[in-house]
Formats: sequence, C-alpha cells, structure tokens
Amino acid sequence: MADKNKYVCLDDFENDSREILEASRFSYFSDGCNEQFTLKENREAFKRYRLRPKILRDVSNIDLNTTILGERISWPVCLSPTAFHRMADYNEGEVATARAAASVGSAMALSCVSTRTIEDVAAVTPRGVRWMQVQFYKPRAQLEVLIKRAEKAGFTALLVTVDQPKIGDKYSIMRVKNALQFQLQDHEKPVNLPKDNYTNGNEIISKFDDSATWQDVKWLKYFTKLPLVLKGITTGDQAKNAVECGVDGILVSNHGGRQLDYLPATIDALPEVVAAVAGSGVEVYMDGGVRHGTDVFKALARGARAVFIGRPIIWGLTCNGYEGAKQVLDILKDEVEKVMAFMGCRNVNEIEPSMVVHEDYYRKCKL
Ligand SMILES: Cc1cc2nc3c(=O)[nH]c(=O)nc-3n(C[C@H](O)[C@H](O)[C@H](O)COP(=O)(O)O)c2cc1C
Repeated sequence: MADKNKYVCLDDFENDSREILEASRFSYFSDGCNEQFTLKENREAFKRYRLRPKILRDVSNIDLNTTILGERISWPVCLSPTAFHRMADYNEGEVATARAAASVGSAMALSCVSTRTIEDVAAVTPRGVRWMQVQFYKPRAQLEVLIKRAEKAGFTALLVTVDQPKIGDKYSIMRVKNALQFQLQDHEKPVNLPKDNYTNGNEIISKFDDSATWQDVKWLKYFTKLPLVLKGITTGDQAKNAVECGVDGILVSNHGGRQLDYLPATIDALPEVVAAVAGSGVEVYMDGGVRHGTDVFKALARGARAVFIGRPIIWGLTCNGYEGAKQVLDILKDEVEKVMAFMGCRNVNEIEPSMVVHEDYYRKCKL
C-alpha cells in the first residue's frame, strides 16, 4: 500500500514513477520528441504568466461546475487520451482511469490505443462523461467500426487527433536496440484496434492514415451523429478550417511535445485560436504541461473552456492504480479551488482575461 501522504503535488507522482517503472517504459510515457523543446516549453511558458487577483470578495463558496458540449462536469479539468494504461497499472488500466475521472466529475477521453475495451470502460462509468479519441486509420472501415462501438457504448463526443500524420522521433527510445518502441507484453497490447496481435508501437502507428485531409473531417462530421472535437490545433488558420468543417470543439494541443518539436507552448498558442473561432459557438480547450491549479486558472483566463491533463494521470496510475489517479485529480482540484479563492473568483464566469498577464507587463512598467 503506497503512502498517500508523500504525494503533495503532481510532480511527486512523476518522481516516484521514475523509480517504479522500467526505464524504457518511463521514457515512453515522459519523453518529448527530438530536442524536447516543446515538451519543456509547455511548462516554462506557464511560468511566464503572472496573476492579478481581486481581493475581499467573499470567497467562502467556490463553485467549479461548468459544461463541455452541453454536459455538466464538476470542474474545468478533464483527461486527455493517453495510450497503454495497463503499462502503468497492470490490473485495471483505463478502467481505473475512468473510475477516477468519474469520481471527481471530470470527463475522460479514451485513447484508441487503450489496453481496456471501449465497452469495459463504459460499463464501469455508465454516468461518466466519456469522449472517444480516434485517428484516421487505413482502411477507413476500421475507423467506422470503432465509432459505431463508441456511439453504442454511450460515448458523447469524438476527439479526433489531427496532429499525428507520422510519429515523432523520441531519441531515448530510438537508442534502445532493436526498436522505436519496446516489445509489448500481452496485457499491454491495445485491445480496440482491429488487429489485436501488435507486438510494438510501430505496427500500430503504421495503421494511421497520413493521407487524411480536411475533406476527411467533413466526411467524419457526416458519418457520425456525435459532436466532433479536433485535437492538435495550434494556429488560428487551422482553427478557422475546423470551424468551416462544422466541428463542435477544438483542443489546442501539441501532443504534449511528442510529435513536432518547436511547436509553441499551448498556453501561448491558445488566445490566437480562441480569437479565430470567436462568434462560431465552437468551444476551445487546451492541454500540455498543466501541473498545478495556477496553470488551470491561467488557461481559463486566456480563453480555454476547460483544460485536459495527460501524463499526471499515468503517474498516478503507476504509483497507486485507481487510488493514485484519483489522488492526482483530488490534489489538482483542491489547488484549483484554492487558486480561485485567492484570485477572488467564485465561479468560472468570474475569471477575467486581465487577471493573467505576461511577465513582460512588469518589465515594461518600471516605476
Ligand atoms: C504516453 C502518452 C500517450 C499518449 N497517447 C495519445 C493518444 O493515444 N492519442 C492522442 O491523441 N494523444 C495522446 N497523447 C497526447 C495527450 O493526449 C496529450 O495531448 C498530452 O499528454 C498533454 O500533455 P501533458 O502530458 O503535459 O498533460 C499521449 C501522451 C502521452 C504522454
């Protein structure tokens, strides 16, 4: 039984995971691509924003409730899709993740490269808000089957990853002899994809369709009755194209710095996307480097309707399965509530853009 008290912030879970996991698996989860510039920048950029609170506003009651695509969530933090959860938690994997998300009123996006089935995840969280993450596959019929299963299992949106025509190069993994990816053990193999006997990540990625275009997004909109959220948008132009295709939401994401290095930090890229879709009704979310309640606040002030987290959940699962993933979310939720109080905001509607400024603001005003 893990000692719960030793985890006081999200980074504690990552530090412990480094000790617990076999090195190549830790690298797979943690690393960014190439020089890992974008990976680090996701964190560094948050540190360049400063907070300007309102005070003495009776913050004895904080209400974190909000909605995404019309569905209620208990606070504006949700779970990004990440692959291979049974590599972190042998017993339950994505089932533990789904239970943890539902226990704190977060939405969970299930990766198409999951190690528990769509139906297993739905069965343990019948009332949880669940989105299904998909890619464009070759052949397209396999995608159609997956979508139909997600619709039937009560998933309420499709999160379509559009920033991964190829797989980014992660040097530490490439240096491991014989593999871009280590060999998967049986319990680590993805179970939703049509062919179940993959032995490594390369084979899975080879099914992703790098010929996909905006026409395919339009086709998807026509094919499914579920709302569409595009994941992996980082510029205003991309966002405008997405709106033209009739999408319902955009997740500003650089894939946690794992695919194309030198993409901007998402907290920097966010306002350009928000401005590009203004007036369209399209909701904008972000992920990448969110590790503290102040990060969540900064993202909301810069225009995100909700933020998503990726790696922290994997670290929670690694440290203590369901309990660990839940503890990650509990800690972050407490932090968000406290930051809201410090900032003088009783609910998310009271967060104002002017409450977060870039550090240059203070460099310029030399009194
Ligand atoms: C180990 C790992 C696996 C991931 N698998 C997927 C995936 O299957 N599909 C996807 O769209 N994004 C995937 N992502 C990207 C995440 O959804 C998300 O964009 C990113 O992790 C957010 O950054 P953060 O980890 O700093 O919170 C993965 C990320 C990690 C770390």
